[in-house]
Amino acid sequence: MIQRAISLYALSGSQRQASASRRLLEALQLACPDGLRITISDLIGELPIFNPDNEGERTPPAVEKFAAEIRKADGLIVSCPEYAHGIPGGFKNALDWLVSRDEVPFKPLMFAHASHRGDLVLAQLTDVLQTMSLTIVQDAFLRLPIAGKSDETQAAMLLEARESGLLSTSLNRFRQAIAAGT
Ligand SMILES: Cc1cc2nc3c(=O)[nH]c(=O)nc-3n(C[C@H](O)[C@H](O)[C@H](O)COP(=O)(O)O)c2cc1C
Repeated sequence: MIQRAISLYALSGSQRQASASRRLLEALQLACPDGLRITISDLIGELPIFNPDNEGERTPPAVEKFAAEIRKADGLIVSCPEYAHGIPGGFKNALDWLVSRDEVPFKPLMFAHASHRGDLVLAQLTDVLQTMSLTIVQDAFLRLPIAGKSDETQAAMLLEARESGLLSTSLNRFRQAIAAGT
């Protein structure tokens, strides 16, 4: 029997070009075990500011496109920095567009965290995402503190994490949780 690949949609909470959060997602893409596929979203920065008046028939096309990608995915990966002890505004805006829609309830989600700091944003995201009825797979949590390091150090740490199996271990745990219907 041919099984289709499990499809993961990865969301970076940082829109910075040299973002450590995004680099971690790119490293996960490279470390992706057979049978898993990761697409990194480029849509978060394109979303207008959330306004409940613009939901339903008035939903902006960029939001419909983003929501369609979320719907297609078997699971989500979130890599998000902490800004001023909280969730970056642009990322919270993307989540707000999804609150009243039906794409996210019970969708499995794993965190990939690129800093040794940022426990407040992790706690806040956990609260927000659980309020939105996503299923956070704690067992797949990945932390690799590359934020604030030079490009060379980041590249070396990401390579080491890939070669040691740290990245694929988290992905395999996430895959198992998805397959088990978590
Ligand atoms: C506006 C702003 C506020 C920040 N506030 C915090 C903070 O409250 N706590 C923290 O640990 N780091 C804070 N940082 C540091 C970021 O979390 C860190 O630079 C991280 O690497 C940014 O993620 P990125 O590399 O993916 O863009 C802040 C950075 C910025 C730009």
